[in-house]
Formats: sequence, structure tokens, C-alpha cells
Amino acid sequence: MVNRQVAQKNMLMGNYARAPLAFSHGEGSWLISTDGGRYLDFASGIAVNNLGHGHPALVAALTKQAQKLWHVSNLYTIPEQERVAEMLCARGKLTKAFFCNSGAEATEAAVKMARRAQYHQGQVSRRTILCSEGAFHGRTIAMLAATDREAFREGFGPMPQGFDHFPFGNMNVLRDRLIADSNSPEPEIAAIMVESVQGEGGAKPLPHGFLEELRALTSEAGCLLIADEVQIGVGRSGHFFSYEPSGITPDIVAMAKGLGGGFPVGAVLASDAVGAAMDAGSHGSTFGGNPLAMAAVGAVLEVLDEEFLADLRARAERFLQMLVALVGRHDALIEVRGQGFLIGLVLKDGITPAAMTEALRARHLLVVPAAAQTLRLLPPLNASMQEIEHAVSIIDAVLTHEEFS
Ligand SMILES: Cc1ncc(COP(=O)(O)O)c(C=O)c1O
Repeated sequence: MVNRQVAQKNMLMGNYARAPLAFSHGEGSWLISTDGGRYLDFASGIAVNNLGHGHPALVAALTKQAQKLWHVSNLYTIPEQERVAEMLCARGKLTKAFFCNSGAEATEAAVKMARRAQYHQGQVSRRTILCSEGAFHGRTIAMLAATDREAFREGFGPMPQGFDHFPFGNMNVLRDRLIADSNSPEPEIAAIMVESVQGEGGAKPLPHGFLEELRALTSEAGCLLIADEVQIGVGRSGHFFSYEPSGITPDIVAMAKGLGGGFPVGAVLASDAVGAAMDAGSHGSTFGGNPLAMAAVGAVLEVLDEEFLADLRARAERFLQMLVALVGRHDALIEVRGQGFLIGLVLKDGITPAAMTEALRARHLLVVPAAAQTLRLLPPLNASMQEIEHAVSIIDAVLTHEEFS
């Protein structure tokens, strides 16, 4: 049912294509609309509400901190920040952390750190950041240059220099480029930035073995490896960091989205060598890492232990199997891909992800459209098997509808 209050014209800028639907509260994997409807939330605020809505550990941690201290400036020591930095670095096998407030701030800071680290080591010509075609790294001006989608850039030029792209998953092209660059008298490449599974790009995982080879190549060529874990990180892949199964450690890791379970917070983790370049005054953020944000991150980290992640992997595997079974039964569904709880349903040409999203929403299942004819399923990481089965039954019913068959 259309919520007329929301559908009315208002004073907000038109930069979002909003659905005429508003929510008053949430309970676990469910959102309750202002007109009383219950919606199964497999969008999770676009990979943010990792623990669903109103998780007791998160509510308790934030409530407790809200009564003590919300914000102090980074002019002072913030013990809560030091504690969370230690927890994150231990999990990421890295040694330095910086806190900000969003994904684009984290990726942008990661780029600054990569350039600064090269500069610090006397590699002043190494300024270019190589990104993958189809990547999404955020909406600031610099991150639009890192993101190669023209539609996002229209009217916002000129784009900053120092970004270039390689074809998604194409190791041959990348290897040739890196070797040629490192053999030139003035190498240009400072870092490669990749998402191990492209989120906005359509839940597209890098080919098997790509990260391992990329790590070896970047180390050999003298450039840095930045992992953009903003969407796939913080457990969404089934591992705390998505690259864990590959055994690699990037030089720099950008995080946000699920990190605060809904509280706006981002982070960048880095190696000692990168951290050494970031001396006092080199970068900053007024709100970054305030005690309230740190309370949220601390609570999320405590919930996402190894036992939780192993259980998530088992649920994700069963979810995937159920979805793959739909491919054989519905012409409209071409492929199921992704990792963990970042799952993409690739639709046949002629069926738009937006139309399918709307049809699912009409049946009270929330999902997110993506590029490349893909629909994204981003359940809360603690979604139950019963909720997963319910989502599959709604998808099955919508695909059976003649509009999509
Ligand atoms: C991989 C990736 N990087 C960066 C961003 C930008 O994050 P934010 O919207 O919090 O700035 C996103 C957002 O979707 C993302 O998916």
C-alpha cells in the first residue's frame, strides 16, 4: 500500500529515487512500515544493518555509551578508539587504524595513504591508483574518478587525475601493465584498489586465485594493494575480511557499512610501512572514531566471532543452493553469484532489476538493484533459515508471475 505521506512532495533534494514507503521501527530481520506492514529486510540498509534491527547487544552498548560521553575531538586520547583499533588490527593482521564516518571517506583516505606512503619512501612518481572496471568506491569527486561509471560522473567533471582502470578480473592485462610500469624509469602506479566481490557492480566475485596473484605481483612491482571491504567486509562474505580464505594481507583495507551495524562509521587499516607516512596533521576527520561510534563497532565485533561466522557460512551455503535451484525453474533467472550474504540474481535481458525489486517489495521482501542486470540480496548476517526460506518462496512466487516468466 502506498504511504501517501511519503509520496507527497517535500523539501528534500531529488537525488534519490525513493520508494513511497516509510518505516517506523525494526525487529531483527523485519522492518515495520508506518502503515503497519511487515517487510523482510534483505537489503539491510545496503549492507549496513549486519545484525538486523534493534539487536540487544548493539542497543545496550550504544545506550550505555550515550549516557557517558558521545563525542570528544581527536585532539585528545580516546581510549575507546584505541581498544577498537586493537581489535580490528588483530583480526586484519595489520597494525595501524584510522577512523572516519563513511565508505567514500574510507576509500579516499586509503588512496591518500597509498600515495603518501610511496612519497614517504621516495617513490614520488608513484601516484596512480589502478582500479577495476565496474568497481564502485564512492561518490566524492576523487572516488568518482576511481569508479569508472560515466552515469555517476555526468556533469561533475573535471575528474581528478591519477586514476586508471583495468578490465575486471583480467590478470594478463594487469600483469603486463604492472611489469611495464615497474621497469620504467619513473613508475607511476602507487596502488591497485579492488573489491574482492564487486557489490554495486553486480555481486561479481574476482576469479579464483586472482587475489593471491595480485598480492604477489604488487609486492614484486613495488606498489600497494588496497582492499575495498566497504560492502563485502565485516562478515558479509562469511569471513570477517573477505580475502581471509586467500591467505593474503593487503597493505590497506577500507571499511564502513556494516562496521557500526547502522551507526555511521568507517575505518582504514594499514601496515606499519603505510602508517609511518601518516604523521600528525597529514589527515583527519572531526567525527571520526568518536566514543559513540566506537561503542557500536565494539559491540558488532564482539557478536561476529568465529562461531557466528561459521554458522553464517552454513546458512549462506543453503541459501545459495535454494536460489540455484530456482535458476533451472525460471527462464528469467540466468545465474546466481556472489559470496556469503552478498548474493546476486542475474536476470535475463528485458527484465529490469528495478522492476523486480518493486515486485518483490509489493510482496514485502526488500532487496537492492545493482548493475549488470543484477538484483542484490543482502540479508542481515543473523537472518534465520526460516527467514531465508520465506525470502526464497517470495522470489519463487514473483518469478512465477507472468510478467517475469
Ligand atoms: C565497495 C564500496 N566502496 C565504497 C562505497 C561508498 O560508501 P559510502 O556510500 O558509505 O560512502 C560503497 C557504497 O556502496 C561500496 O559498496
